[in-house]
Amino acid sequence: MAFSEKRTSSKVLIIGAGFSGLATACQLRREHNCDDYIIYDRSSAPGGTWWANKYPGCAVDIPAVFYSLSFAPNPDFSKVYPPQAEILEYFNRVADKYDVSRHIVQNTEWEGAYWQEPTRSWLVKLKNLSTGQVFYHDCKILISAVGALVNPNTFGAPGAEIFQGDIVHTAAWKEDMSLREKDVIVVGNGCSAAQLIPAIAKEARSITQFIRTPQFYLQNENKQIDDNWKFIFRYVPGALRLLRLMVFLYLESTAVRFNINPNGNKARNLSSERSKAYIQRNAPGELNPRRIICRRIFDNNKYISCLQKSNIHLTEDPIVEISSHSIFTKSGQEYPADAILLATGFALTQYDVELVGRNGRTRDQHWDNFGYKEAYKSTAMSGFPNFFYVLGPNSGKGHTSAIYSIENYVNLVMKVIAPVIQDRCSFVEVKPDREKDYNVNLHEKIATTIFDSSCRSYFIDYKTEKNWFIYPWNSFVMWYSTHSGRSDDWTYDVRPDKNRVFRFRHLLLLLALSIILISFTMIVREKYS
Ligand SMILES: Cc1cc2nc3c(=O)[nH]c(=O)nc-3n(C[C@H](O)[C@H](O)[C@H](O)COP(=O)(O)OP(=O)(O)OC[C@H]3O[C@@H](n4cnc5c(N)ncnc54)[C@H](O)[C@@H]3O)c2cc1C
Ligand SMILES: NC(=O)c1ccc[n+]([C@@H]2O[C@H](COP(=O)([O-])OP(=O)(O)OC[C@H]3O[C@@H](n4cnc5c(N)ncnc54)[C@H](OP(=O)(O)O)[C@@H]3O)[C@@H](O)[C@H]2O)c1
Ligand SMILES: *[C@@H]1O[C@H](CO)[C@@H](O)[C@H](O)[C@H]1NC(C)=O
Ligand SMILES: *[C@@H]1O[C@H](CO)[C@@H](O)[C@H](O)[C@H]1NC(C)=O
Repeated sequence: MAFSEKRTSSKVLIIGAGFSGLATACQLRREHNCDDYIIYDRSSAPGGTWWANKYPGCAVDIPAVFYSLSFAPNPDFSKVYPPQAEILEYFNRVADKYDVSRHIVQNTEWEGAYWQEPTRSWLVKLKNLSTGQVFYHDCKILISAVGALVNPNTFGAPGAEIFQGDIVHTAAWKEDMSLREKDVIVVGNGCSAAQLIPAIAKEARSITQFIRTPQFYLQNENKQIDDNWKFIFRYVPGALRLLRLMVFLYLESTAVRFNINPNGNKARNLSSERSKAYIQRNAPGELNPRRIICRRIFDNNKYISCLQKSNIHLTEDPIVEISSHSIFTKSGQEYPADAILLATGFALTQYDVELVGRNGRTRDQHWDNFGYKEAYKSTAMSGFPNFFYVLGPNSGKGHTSAIYSIENYVNLVMKVIAPVIQDRCSFVEVKPDREKDYNVNLHEKIATTIFDSSCRSYFIDYKTEKNWFIYPWNSFVMWYSTHSGRSDDWTYDVRPDKNRVFRFRHLLLLLALSIILISFTMIVREKYS
């Protein structure tokens, strides 16, 4: 990594070494043969989500044949839904294969970025987290691949400072923490909690889970992939691709239940009936999901049957205070506590980093002016040339692989930046009216799904009441809109110096043509006069 540390500039700068950053880096190389890039990440090792979430039981919930990069298929996954460690290993293998690893600089926080009109480049402010030192990096193109579920939710109950045990979020797990014979508090009941609880149920003395909204869980099995299948995946041409396609199509078919229409209602009804029956069969009376089915929480780890164990207790009684060795609830109960595990999800604060675009306008001003948080096709904003998000506002989907979305957005960015990468232009910027139209359509579409009102969660920006997480169309639409984009959605300049060369050439050509024309008329005149 020595070579990257001395550099203070590069053509492309990527923030974030998760799958978004990795896919961007691979495609820079594959599509533009561009090696002039650097990736900064604040964590101490690459992998993003899959490095951060090391809690027991963590795994993917999309069959990994589809939760992998299309250009880097992996025949070796051990299970249909492999554990976190395997995904991380896959990540690192791809990063090495595409020569990305040596471009990654860890322990570096992105703190701001400032557009410089004279040089048409970004000045990026960074902080070395080992020393606290701030430094700057200059780049032509800035790509924010900071992820979607990256900043853990904080937990507000008073008394945390006097608590004698560990308070740990699932996305900031302490690997050396032992829960053996401990009284454990788990807060939250999303995917993370459903994976965590079965994995620690044997070890802990007791687990008390505090939930706010009872959820639906779907029965599902996680099958081992045996050597015969691995052989087929490795040696039969097209086998992995075909399976990938089948998984994609199957998952896509489950998206109907997000729609507010008769088909959607029917599908939701079916899912929730099935889920209720499953819960009733495996943990009668323990959990009674109330709201409409929004999330798809697969019970791969058998969380529901765990609820029947004598050492596991579930309650909706909220925690109001933490003391040194216990917690108190609203109803006045006290529970002994040696560790508090927060499976409370994420705050979408990764967009808060200061960004100052053309004419000193900040992104906050841009969004205030727009009315809500947004980006054209989740990737770009007018006034912020050469700046792109990979999983930006409204890029999230609840039913299929995030890597599919990542690859689509990376494809769009690669296409749009081509003239800048090739030094034919100095900037590219989305046209304001296209940005507006796109977002008006987007929110009209969201209004026809359950994501606007019924599924209130971190999807909704509390300030503007707008859903700034969900991508409401299907995956075919996403593919089309990121592969066929009209080039007139974007403004390019022609590089000033090239422009001059261009005009000079024109002038020469005009001069030559005039000379030829004049000589020709003179010859003709002479001949026929
Ligand atoms: C526990 C868990 C399980 C999941 N399982 C699935 C699944 O099964 N299927 C699925 O499709 N999706 C899943 N997801 C969603 C998952 O986040 C995406 O699939 C994908 O990993 C996102 O990749 P990313 O690179 O965009 O973001 P991340 O992997 O989050 O990477 C972002 C990186 O940016 C860095 N970063 C952020 N801000 C800054 C900053 N200011 N300065 C420096 N660095 C910064 C972070 O350190 C991080 O390394 C899961 C998420 C979680 C939390
Ligand atoms: N591969 C996988 O299987 C997998 C695993 C983990 C995560 N993920 C992905 O990551 C995303 C985040 O998952 P997550 O489980 O970490 O978070 P999440 O889905 O946002 O769930 C957080 C849970 O904590 C609850 N909560 C938050 N604050 C609380 C409080 N103060 N008191 C009580 N309960 C509180 C929330 O309740 P409310 O519902 O009432 O808000 C919610 O149930 C998911 O959307 C999923 O896509 C996937
Ligand atoms: C941050 O500081 C450490 C310790 O001095 C150093 O080893 C590392 O190279 C620095 N990182 C960057 C990006 O300069
Ligand atoms: C599903 O539909 C049936 C029949 O129309 C109805 O009785 C039932 O209450 C519905 N269930 C849910 C969860 O909406």
